[in-house]
Amino acid sequence: MPPSARIENALQSALQAGEAPGHPPRLAAAVRHAVFPGGARIRPQLCLAVAGACGDDDPALAEAAATAIELLHCASLVHDDLPCFDDAATRRGKPSVHRAFGERLAVLAGDVLIVQAFQALATGGTAHPQRLPRLLAAVTAGVGLPFGIAAGQAWECEPQVVLRDYQRAKTGALFAAATIAGALAAGADARRWRALGEWLGEAYQVADDIHDATSSAADLGKPVGRDLALGRPSITREQGLRGAVLRFDLLVAKAMQAVPTCVGEAALRALVQREGERLVPRSLADELTASAA
Ligand code: IPE
Ligand code: IPE
Ligand code: MG
Ligand code: MG
Repeated sequence: MPPSARIENALQSALQAGEAPGHPPRLAAAVRHAVFPGGARIRPQLCLAVAGACGDDDPALAEAAATAIELLHCASLVHDDLPCFDDAATRRGKPSVHRAFGERLAVLAGDVLIVQAFQALATGGTAHPQRLPRLLAAVTAGVGLPFGIAAGQAWECEPQVVLRDYQRAKTGALFAAATIAGALAAGADARRWRALGEWLGEAYQVADDIHDATSSAADLGKPVGRDLALGRPSITREQGLRGAVLRFDLLVAKAMQAVPTCVGEAALRALVQREGERLVPRSLADELTASAA
């Protein structure tokens, strides 16, 4: 089965687990709205790709890890779009969860997604339960204090912010969790996989900042110009478009170098290259650096 089908099937199963008869239907609908149809699904793809490169001896656990990571990502988007954060009316080309279902159900949907992420991991761990403690530690590190998503978002509430710390926490940490969890799910040593996730995640946020400043809401399926309007720390504000593109190129190169020697090395490098080109196509990078020079 192709990785994309494995991911969609696993996400469907995770959500179905919460839809037993007697559940509150609007909350379940809000959760579905947050997960389907998906966006790029890059984090679970990365998780499965690393598990594959490490032998993928427990595909159900790799899928559970990928599911947990994507559900946590979806939860972070629901909460990030709330009026008290970025107040975004759209996400993935449709109304954000709070616009479609109201704020109370959006808060609850984000909470449920976080819980379902860990339920998915627990359910997927039956063949190798001894792998679960490390997996839990890796996944929680991607979302909590001191360096996960919640910590990253919290830097928006502090008077002083170091941009790189903010970006590495709010985005890099879950990418690192994705690569580490992929390795752990396959029973491999995770230490050699952290750097790939960290570099690629940071590149992702830099690309997101570039698009916030240069793309259209129609192309992105979410509002643009929010970083400037809300006074959010962003690389384009700190270093300009040219500086941001140069930083993006460097981060993708670092991610490429961080792919460890392994059987799946070529496929992983291809994934990093494909993502780099998808996020900031060479033609756009050249245009931005030329016009900003
Ligand atoms: C958006 O992430 C938020 C960031 C951390 C930049 P993605 O760009 O991966 O969002 P989807 O999942 O594809 O919608
Ligand atoms: C990433 O930051 C958000 C999360 C970690 C949830 P942004 O606020 O810049 O992401 P978008 O632009 O709303 O997707
Ligand atoms: Mg935000
Ligand atoms: Mg946002």
